[in-house]
Amino acid sequence: MASNTKSTKLLATKPIDLLLAESKETGEHSLKRALGRLNLITLGIGAIIGAGIFVLTGAAAANYAGPAIVLSFVLAGVACLFAGLCYAEFASLIPVAGSAYTYGYATLGEIFAWIIGWDLILEYAFGAATVAVGWSGYALSFLQDFGIYIPPQLTGSPGTVLVQFQGHWEHLDHIKNTLLARGIDASALPHMTADFNLIAFLAIAVVTTVLVIGIKESANLNSAVVIVKLAIVLLFIGIAGVYVFQHPSTTIAINWKEFIPQNTGEFGKYGWSGIARAASVIFFAYIGFDAVSTAAQEAKNPQKDMPIGIMGSLLVCTILYILVSGLLTAIVPYTALNVSDPVAVGIDATGVRWGSFMVKAGAIFGLGTVMLVMLLGQSRVFYSMSRDGLLPQWAGKVHPRFRTPYISTITVGLFVAIFSALLPINILGELVSIGTLLAFVIVCAGVWILRVRRPELERPFKTPLVPLVPILGILISLGLMASLPLDTWLRLIVWLIIGMAIYFGYSRKHSKLQNSL
Ligand code: ALA
Repeated sequence: MASNTKSTKLLATKPIDLLLAESKETGEHSLKRALGRLNLITLGIGAIIGAGIFVLTGAAAANYAGPAIVLSFVLAGVACLFAGLCYAEFASLIPVAGSAYTYGYATLGEIFAWIIGWDLILEYAFGAATVAVGWSGYALSFLQDFGIYIPPQLTGSPGTVLVQFQGHWEHLDHIKNTLLARGIDASALPHMTADFNLIAFLAIAVVTTVLVIGIKESANLNSAVVIVKLAIVLLFIGIAGVYVFQHPSTTIAINWKEFIPQNTGEFGKYGWSGIARAASVIFFAYIGFDAVSTAAQEAKNPQKDMPIGIMGSLLVCTILYILVSGLLTAIVPYTALNVSDPVAVGIDATGVRWGSFMVKAGAIFGLGTVMLVMLLGQSRVFYSMSRDGLLPQWAGKVHPRFRTPYISTITVGLFVAIFSALLPINILGELVSIGTLLAFVIVCAGVWILRVRRPELERPFKTPLVPLVPILGILISLGLMASLPLDTWLRLIVWLIIGMAIYFGYSRKHSKLQNSL
């Protein structure tokens, strides 16, 4: 009997009417409603276009999919489309700050809400850390182009080997192929081993400061940078498109000849399994549209504008990604794309000399907004969890003047900065992908469950074809998770176990909902 009561409480749901009442609160302890429709779309694009397309695409094409990376982008885009439709229904129905965490609380129960909230740390906090590492690669290359050198020990995660080549310090992993192709023995070049990625650390510190100062200021800065970022992506598409059109016999005819390279016999190494593996890696490139939903409490008219912000930003980016990846693999043989700045390499190949400078500059600004939105999302999830008593109260404290949850923003910023300085991009990126896919699964399930349990609720935006769309969203997300390496699964499990320990040790006892039952 006792155990019955316990499990009922763990599955206690937060009443939707209470959530809606909370979302309407105003006053000095609430967040400021400053974001319009366009702000939300730019917030989405600002979060989406980043290290995924600018950095990870190259290695995914080179190692897993070849030119068929285009199909990986289609596959990952479809998964996001289904999940995006589910997020849009929730975001318009429950427009509060906590995103998937709050949706889980309203539908599946507290324990699931906790799991999602904890899991979202993987997406937002580790996502920001991943982008910071990608950013540091572009920043470093840019600075070196201008003859500015940072001590190599401070430019990578501990253990990263750097070599000096043509006057630049480069990560050995990134130039291995180039050295091999030129018959250069890497061990003959000057070597260094990195201890700490100071550039990534400082990037997060700056973004955190901007966030503490205020949402409106951050949103304006974001809009300006998003325009620059879009311009750079369009510039690449324009230059590369014209080049391919003018030189079809030296580009597409050669580099796309074997569009789906033959599988090597190993799962994930080219062929169809390679397309799936690459999709689970470049899935990272789409992450961010859901971050729009974390800003629901700061939107002026969330019920109408949230779905527009989510789906609009997702659609724009899907089209851009398919074009960029197609053109990139048409211009550069996929085997040469395993570098830290593939888009810059692509534009170099067209012979437009100033192009690579523009791409690097655009990536440096553009990746900044991704960090901004990710950290914004993370602090808003903590804010919601602390308001519910699942995290200590200080995490939800809103600054009286700036009206931002400054303590959680600074705490998150500090941890993220440390992680970005100490961990390599592939470990971070894969953890982010698996964590986000898990959140997608839960959100898709949540939409379906709520339709069954509370069919009468007014839904300003309705996911079409329920339960088909949520089921497809769940299946594709699970499929992509299954394509990720075992190590990543183990890290996810350890992370969830730590989360459970905190839930049973702290959150459950302090939960406002549990105490009100
Ligand atoms: N989608 C974001 C990026 O690619 C997270 O950087």
